[in-house]
Amino acid sequence: MITIALSKGRIFEETLPLLQAAGITVLDDPETSRKLILDTNQPGVRVLVVRATDVPTYVQFGGADMGITGKDTLLEHASDWGGGSAGLFQPLDLQIAKCRISVAVRADFDYAHAVRQGARLRVATKYVAIARDFFASKGVHVDLIKLYGSMELAPLVGLADAIVDLVSTGNTLRANNLIEVERIMDISSRLIVNQAALKLKREPIRHIISAFSDALAQPAPPLP
Ligand code: PRP
Repeated sequence: MITIALSKGRIFEETLPLLQAAGITVLDDPETSRKLILDTNQPGVRVLVVRATDVPTYVQFGGADMGITGKDTLLEHASDWGGGSAGLFQPLDLQIAKCRISVAVRADFDYAHAVRQGARLRVATKYVAIARDFFASKGVHVDLIKLYGSMELAPLVGLADAIVDLVSTGNTLRANNLIEVERIMDISSRLIVNQAALKLKREPIRHIISAFSDALAQPAPPLP
């Protein structure tokens, strides 16, 4: 049995064509079903529906053989586990769910001036590790405030000077009168594979990886 961990929403939708290329059709729709283990047309393949931030955990500790997760989630996960994702093989950038992580502030906040002055900034984010590394690399002192969602609110109510959050279309920033002042990194989703599963179930996993790379017109990655 091959178990694939996916999160609902954009990653799930954009993964379906890749699974299809590997001959895998998911038989349930996670948006309408309450099931957390979804059958596929292949008796030997099943899909787990997990929270996006839990995908690396399921794969790293063997609850799933493979999964698809954003680079943002992977970086935060590695930091939670002491700077490493031991046991996780990352063969492919799937080029899906593309967006970026940026710094944004209220339109009336002079971010460049505050940085030049060496001001200590209050930054709200759920990407604490990414934000810490970014501001440390710029030599900007920050107090990080961990939030779990609706980051855009924080500067509007005086909780923070800036936010670090995902930006895709920019609509959420615009709707809340915020402007993007720094682009920290581009984000896309990665295929991750449990190293032990790769040893034990090499052939079916190799088949899925090579079907994905064919569908993406990327060269098949060498397997460890
Ligand atoms: C993300 C992010 C922004 C929004 C950006 O939230 O946190 O709020 O998308 O997208 P846009 O630039 O296209 O407006 P998401 O909807 O993924 O929910 P979240 O609050 O759980 O992160």
